[in-house]
Amino acid sequence: MTAATSLKSPAAAATRYVTEQNLTDIVLNRWQDIPDPRLREVMGALIRHLHGFVREIEPTNAEWFQAIDWLTRTGQISDSKRQEMILFSDVTGVSMLVDAINHRFKDGATPTTVEGPFHVADAPHISDGGNMAKGAPGIPCFVTGTVRDMSGNPVGNAMLDLWQTDGEGLYESQRNTDEPWMRGIFHSKADGSYCVRTVVPIAYTIPMDGTVGELVSRTNVSHMRPAHIHFAVEAPGYRKVTTHLFRDGDEYLDSDAVYGVKKALIVDFIEKQPGKAPNGETMSEPYYEVRYDFILQKAD
Ligand code: BEZ
Ligand code: FE
Repeated sequence: MTAATSLKSPAAAATRYVTEQNLTDIVLNRWQDIPDPRLREVMGALIRHLHGFVREIEPTNAEWFQAIDWLTRTGQISDSKRQEMILFSDVTGVSMLVDAINHRFKDGATPTTVEGPFHVADAPHISDGGNMAKGAPGIPCFVTGTVRDMSGNPVGNAMLDLWQTDGEGLYESQRNTDEPWMRGIFHSKADGSYCVRTVVPIAYTIPMDGTVGELVSRTNVSHMRPAHIHFAVEAPGYRKVTTHLFRDGDEYLDSDAVYGVKKALIVDFIEKQPGKAPNGETMSEPYYEVRYDFILQKAD
């Protein structure tokens, strides 16, 4: 059959000439021509879902250009310090979904939650019981516990990388400081125990001065995160756990802007009267104590 006759066949014409009805199939057909099977799978799903989305909402041209403008500005304000694209993924729950898919831990292991944009690598190493909130405003707080495996055995020398807001709700990148602020790397002792001195975290807003804030402000969706401390806990032979501990009773636990709250991560912050603290210091003011055992799952 020649090219000229084949184009006259109804089947060829159906895929050669575009209509609103056949467009998705034509595009899917063309984007099948990808040698890498994973890229082929991803592009097929992306086209099906994008076309499905557009068919569902039927945007006007003006609405579509508004969307393109929003995405363009979201990219333009992102850089190595500010990642508005990740924030968009966070507030739409996509970051937590990707996190869940990649951390299907066994029941009983400490669950993960989003890392968020405020982690800074190479935090100072602080000895057991040391203070990672030196000079920061806030009510003193001690976090203690044991790192264990799934059978309850202690995991010694696990690395615990912590970061959080100070008592005014600000992270290091939101303070004008060249020194490390509210972060530190601790290690569990041979018996798995660890002890951290910090300050009580408070609830805070996600950054609202960018395109995500522009979007969220047009909704009644919460832009607040409940008070939490971030942890990344790792030890050789175990799956790394990047997670948070949330303060029980916080008013935003049920409306976290990034959907990070899991039941097993909600902990009591217990108020203590002045006296001897878990690291042996004598406290002259009231302070708080949090106890949490991290349970690590063996790497496969
Ligand atoms: C955070 O907990 O630091 C965070 C996570 C996602 C978006 C904004 C902040
Ligand atoms: Fe945070």
